[in-house]
Amino acid sequence: MSDRELRVSKIRNGTVIDHVTGGQALNVLSILGIDGSEGLGVSVVLNVPSDRLGLKDVVKVEDRELSQSEVDVISLIAPEATINIIREFDVVEKNRVDRPETVIGLLSCPNRNCITNANEPVETKFDVVDEGVRCTYCGTIIREELATHIDPE
Ligand code: CTP
Ligand code: ZN
Repeated sequence: MSDRELRVSKIRNGTVIDHVTGGQALNVLSILGIDGSEGLGVSVVLNVPSDRLGLKDVVKVEDRELSQSEVDVISLIAPEATINIIREFDVVEKNRVDRPETVIGLLSCPNRNCITNANEPVETKFDVVDEGVRCTYCGTIIREELATHIDPE
């Protein structure tokens, strides 16, 4: 990319989530639990042209790596995303996301009566199905707006 086209700076250390489905970057931030109060350096690019995706978003988070659960949930809203780990300005690792079979932790079940909402030491677990994700314990299906079902930890 030429200097004329560069939209945000390269980062020194952290994670670049690239090829995010256009319009999903803010949901990626909520999956990561980032609202700005952490003080992390974050750059977000929305709806820039991409050869592969038409329009894509990019999220750059400095000094933070992602957990497997976070990557799993991101894959459900941004199936084409690439996760780039940056160290001292170099891309030291680049991974495509994979649609997982299950998502453990991170999401919360919307059913108030679910065992996972009963103050029991039970981690949430969802099976990925065609319609969305289904709670392993009570069968409740989250069909859309996954990002609004993120467990605030
Ligand atoms: N990037 C960054 N800071 C760095 C290095 C890379 O912000 N120090 C960003 C780039 O701007 C790009 C992404 O990380 O959005 C991946 O970098 P790179 O692999 O160099 O780019 P491409 O070859 O275009 O990646 P791909 O083939 O995955 O499209
Ligand atoms: Zn449940």
